[in-house]
Amino acid sequence: MSANYAVVLAAGQGTRMKSKLYKVLHPVCGKSMVEHVIGQIEQLNLTQIVTIIGYGGKQVKEVLGKRTEFAVQQEQLGTGHAVLQAEQILGEKKGTTLIICGDTPLFKAATLADLFAYHQQQKAAATILTAKAPDPTGYGRIIRDQAGNVAKIVEQKDTTPAEAAINEINTGVYCFDNQTLFQALHQVTNDNAQHEYYLTDVIEICQKSGQKVAAFAMKDFNESMGVNDRVALAKATSLMRQRINETQMRNGVTLIDPQNTYIDSDVQIGADTVIEPGVVLKGKTIIGENCLIGAHSQITASTIADNVTITASVLENAEMAEGSNIGPYSHLRPQAKIGPRVHIGNFVEVKKAEIGADTKVGHLTYVGDATLGRHINVGCGCVFVNYDGINKHHTTVGDYSFIGSSSNMVAPLQIADHAYVAAGSTITGDVAAHDMAIARGRQVNKAGYYDRYPVAKAAQQAEQAEKSFK
Ligand code: UD1
Ligand code: CA
Repeated sequence: MSANYAVVLAAGQGTRMKSKLYKVLHPVCGKSMVEHVIGQIEQLNLTQIVTIIGYGGKQVKEVLGKRTEFAVQQEQLGTGHAVLQAEQILGEKKGTTLIICGDTPLFKAATLADLFAYHQQQKAAATILTAKAPDPTGYGRIIRDQAGNVAKIVEQKDTTPAEAAINEINTGVYCFDNQTLFQALHQVTNDNAQHEYYLTDVIEICQKSGQKVAAFAMKDFNESMGVNDRVALAKATSLMRQRINETQMRNGVTLIDPQNTYIDSDVQIGADTVIEPGVVLKGKTIIGENCLIGAHSQITASTIADNVTITASVLENAEMAEGSNIGPYSHLRPQAKIGPRVHIGNFVEVKKAEIGADTKVGHLTYVGDATLGRHINVGCGCVFVNYDGINKHHTTVGDYSFIGSSSNMVAPLQIADHAYVAAGSTITGDVAAHDMAIARGRQVNKAGYYDRYPVAKAAQQAEQAEKSFK
């Protein structure tokens, strides 16, 4: 049976990145380069995907999991040697094999499908995906004969000046007749400037043995971009960002300033949501319809329902229900669950706490390890005191209760429904329904004491000065 396969090359160390992180694991818009590649080829319904891993391969395996099979290249002896490691899995099989590098994150499934189609239509043994590069430096060059047929690929370091001037480049993506590929790979030598076994030499081997070699020229060079260093990483990120932002806008999201909006590739946003400049949306964040995400908000792995307003705030692993709002300058930390129509005002921090529908936490408050019911008002400057230095403790506040400003709720603590905490209280014991708790020193007024203080003298002088001006 004839089938389609893919080999993803991801064993190179990526020395030019100068990084402890394995090259293909460097993220582009929140997702590693190799995941971008796998994500696209998964859309091609292939029979098998084999990823070549080597140095640092354990982490690549963890990231890709069951999405691909793996073959290990113990020593990085070149791209040809890398593909050969898939021989045990694919060598005998009949069909077409797509080869793609793990450091080319921008390829789209549609382009790869076009390559497959062209390869099959041409009945070629090998088809190279090529592009015209404004600056071909670093890429392998496509050498064509006088009839315009591909003769070979020459790597940058092996080029003559005339070859170096050619701007048609090898994108590093190919379709091969599978059995021809593995036969040819055994003939590749490392007789070149880098002493590596080049996959690209297979082209000349096929050509010389009379097999048909085709080339499919893609239009958008940017899509083929390979990332070998941090400069290219930034360029790829910028191109990917532009692509993501365009998709979001076409889906009905308003971006006030797309050049300055940073949305990771797995973020989902509903129609009619408006994103202001400087917003950063990371991880698997989901935002509903008709929300307003205000300037400079940062949202990571959070779920935001419809009609939510976020003003200059930071959210991580948090949830906000329909119609709620937050900010400016507030912080939702992991496991903050904000209920429907809840108002979180400015300078509020919420951590591992659930806040029920229609509750208000307006200003300068810390809510940690707590469950708040519905229709509660938490005054200004309250602290849910959750930590005794060793352990965290929990506070519960029931529906329709009122927490006066500047109160401390020392956990573990239960405040019932319809309970009232007087302002300035430090509450250390449970409060029953319909009770009022007050825990502060009683006020004492000392007659005439004002005049004992230096402020009194200063006030007197100021008043005299005012009079003399009149
Ligand atoms: C390669 C091509 C070049 C092409 C360019 C496109 C070769 C010899 N050259 O060059 O013609 O223009 O890609 O981006 O194929 N890898 C392994 N094992 C190895 C060596 C590399 O798995 O022993 C993997 C790397 O992880 C990487 C890919 O193969 O994902 C390409 O290797 P890289 O060293 O980046 O090749 P380039 O110099 O970019
Ligand atoms: Ca590369």
